Formats: sequence, C-alpha cells, structure tokens
Amino acid sequence: MKRREFVETVIALSAIPKQGNWKSWRVNGARVNKHLADLSQYGANPQGGVSRVAFSDADVAGRRFMMDLMRTAGLTVSIDPVGNIVGVRPAARSGTLPLLFGSHIDSVPEGGNYDGDVGSCSAVEVAHILAERGYRNRHPLQVVIWCDEESGLTGSRGFIGDLPQDEIDRPGRDGVVLAEKIRRIGGDPARLAEARHRSGSIAGYVELHIEQGGILDERGINIGIVEGIVGIHHYDVTLRGFANHAGTTPMDRRQNAMLAAAELVLIVDRVVRSVEGRQVGTVGRLLVKPGAPNVIPGQVDLTVELRDLSTEKIERLWTQIHEEALASAKKYGVTLDYTLQHTNLPALSTPAVRTVIADAVQGLGLSSQVMPSGAGHDAQDLARIGPMGMIFVPSVKGISHSPLELTRADDVTNGANVLLQTILRLDQQ
Ligand code: HGY
Ligand code: MN
Ligand code: MN
Repeated sequence: MKRREFVETVIALSAIPKQGNWKSWRVNGARVNKHLADLSQYGANPQGGVSRVAFSDADVAGRRFMMDLMRTAGLTVSIDPVGNIVGVRPAARSGTLPLLFGSHIDSVPEGGNYDGDVGSCSAVEVAHILAERGYRNRHPLQVVIWCDEESGLTGSRGFIGDLPQDEIDRPGRDGVVLAEKIRRIGGDPARLAEARHRSGSIAGYVELHIEQGGILDERGINIGIVEGIVGIHHYDVTLRGFANHAGTTPMDRRQNAMLAAAELVLIVDRVVRSVEGRQVGTVGRLLVKPGAPNVIPGQVDLTVELRDLSTEKIERLWTQIHEEALASAKKYGVTLDYTLQHTNLPALSTPAVRTVIADAVQGLGLSSQVMPSGAGHDAQDLARIGPMGMIFVPSVKGISHSPLELTRADDVTNGANVLLQTILRLDQQ
C-alpha cells in the first residue's frame, strides 16, 4: 500500500466512532430535561402538571411533538395499527430480534409532568446519542411510545394481541368507542391482527419510569431495579335504588343507592387491610345519579380497583368484598351489579435483564435497590412476549398522579444514563 493510501486509511478509520469506549458514553442531561419541560406544555394546567388524557387534543399534540423529537434523533417513525408510535434504528446487520425501549406520554386528569414522560424522553435521548456516536447496533432498536397507558395499558395490550374486539367496539365511559379514538391518533383498528407481536418476537424490552412511590426518595437511593409489577383489576359496580323527592320521602321509606355506595367504599378499605401483604384497594371513581341535592340518589356507578403481585389474592379479596357489599345493598333495598372492566396481569422482570441493569448502575457509580412496582406499566405486557426490565428513578415525597409530581433533573439524567448503558449492554450480547 502506497504511503498516501496508508495515511488516508488511518484518517478514515480514526473518523469512525470508537465503539469500544461505549461504556463511557453519557446522555445529554440538559437536552433530555429540556425536552421533558417542553413536553409538559401539552395539556398544561394552571395549577401545574398536565391533563394530557389519551386521545385528547393535548395528547395528539404531545404525540406530534414526540414524533418530531424521534425524527431528530435519527429514528424512522410510524404509528402502528393500535396507535403506538414506533421509532426504528435499523441494525447494522439483519437477522436479529428487535430490542425495544420506551414508555407513554398520556396522563391521568390533573396528573404530573413525569409519569411516563421521563421514560419516553429518555428513550428518545438514548437514540439521539447512538445517532450522534454513529453507533452500529447489532439489534434493530425500537423506541416505542405506547398509546393510552393510563386507562388500562391499551397500546401495549394491543401490541401483544390482548385487546379483544369487543373492547375495541365498546363505548368508553365518555360514550366514544375505542376504535374511533384509535383512528383519531393515527391507528387503524381494522389491522389490529397485524400489530400483534407473538411470544419470542423481541430480544427484550426495557422501560425507565418514575417510582411513583417514596422508597427511593426517602432512602436517598438513585435507582430502583424492578423485580415485579402488580396486577390490576377494575370492577365497575352499579348500585340501583329509587330516585325520589328528598323533602317529602320519609327516612324509613327510601332506597338510597348512596348509602350502599358509602358502605361499599368502607368495605373495600377494611377487607383489603384485613390480610397481610402489600395489596391495595381504592374507590377513586364514583358517579351519583341524578346528582341533584334535592333528589335521593337512584343510582351510583363506581369502580373498585384492587392491586397485588398475585391474581389469586386479588380474586379472593374481591369475592369477600362482593359478598359483604351484596348484603349491605340488600339492607337498603338497593341492587348491586358489576363487570370486571379490565385486568392487567402481574409480571416479574427477567433476572438476566435485572443483572444487566445492575451492571450499568455500577458502571455509572450509582446506588440502587431491587423493588416491586405498585404502579402498573406497559412493561408488564411486554414481559408476556420477551425478556423485560424496568428502571425506577425517585419521585420526590412519593407523590404521583398529581400536579405536585416531581423528579429532580439529576435523577432524570441518572435514569437516562442507566437506560443508555443498559441498552448498549443488551445490544452487545
Ligand atoms: O395506574 C397506574 O398504576 C399507572 O400509573 N398507569
Ligand atoms: Mn406511567
Ligand atoms: Mn400513571
């Protein structure tokens, strides 16, 4: 080789990013925290936080913002039939299964700026770093922003083929059928079968998320390595009495649905506390009909939510709650009907992925602890088709699903770095 050619080759080779020092790569903390702040504009509430409820105008606008960020990060962006946003970084060579990472950006009404957003913005940041470094990934990498996480993991359930047609065709509590909402955000419910990913079709899934509880913050620990995610059951209950005049109906001649509802709320709390364990039970939704001060409530619609790592325990708790609630309703001349609105199956994370996350944490010199997730996540659906891992960062005072939800910028950066280093490790395997 002539001297000039040799020099040209050396210059060309030195221009290729050294893959070898990938363990020293870090995210751009300022950029990911800025994107997080920018995202919080979509659905911003005057008291702070957001109402970026799935399928709302704010959600559609927030999704558009995220798709722009994904394109800037070098991803090829599309919307799958369920309405999930998928950004792809093709592999340097073919024949390997895709490695997925992401979260959601829809919120509860009057929620916070971090639930789902930290994992979504960090996933895009990881892709951005890989693009800037010219990284030659061995697996196809897919950044996914799941649609409608908050009402029951709709997007990720559709992704694994667990979104039954009757649910697609069923009007939601707002009266609009889910199929219509999915079309509104660019999905195509008629092609749901195409969206289905079978067990074994992914190399793995990793999700960064805020803890939404107070353990890490209280103990001053940087990172949570999630061992398992609780199952969630929503029982929609309807109590029917008899609406009547509040002024002329004697107290002993009433069929007051509200009395049965009030006792049911207390029954849930007592029964759930009556057994050992970390199970939780909540009545967070209650609608009174007709809802006028001078009318005895003829009907109350409410939702009983039960959560635990064991489905059997959830079912056992519900059996007891239902039995006691029936007796209570009868006492007031009120009937009780219920439907199991939806269930999220509990999921354990994959030990081998937990080990990789722990190695990434150690490489970054951060502290961590293994812990359960009392919140539900899309990761529990992905666990049903491949290896899954979840990374938590602290929630200040454990507050979440509230405008007061807060994760400090340094903790966001730590989490994004752990995600980056975890994805690099998994891709190198
Ligand atoms: O409700 C939950 O557990 C989650 O934040 N969607
Ligand atoms: Mn969430
Ligand atoms: Mn949430």
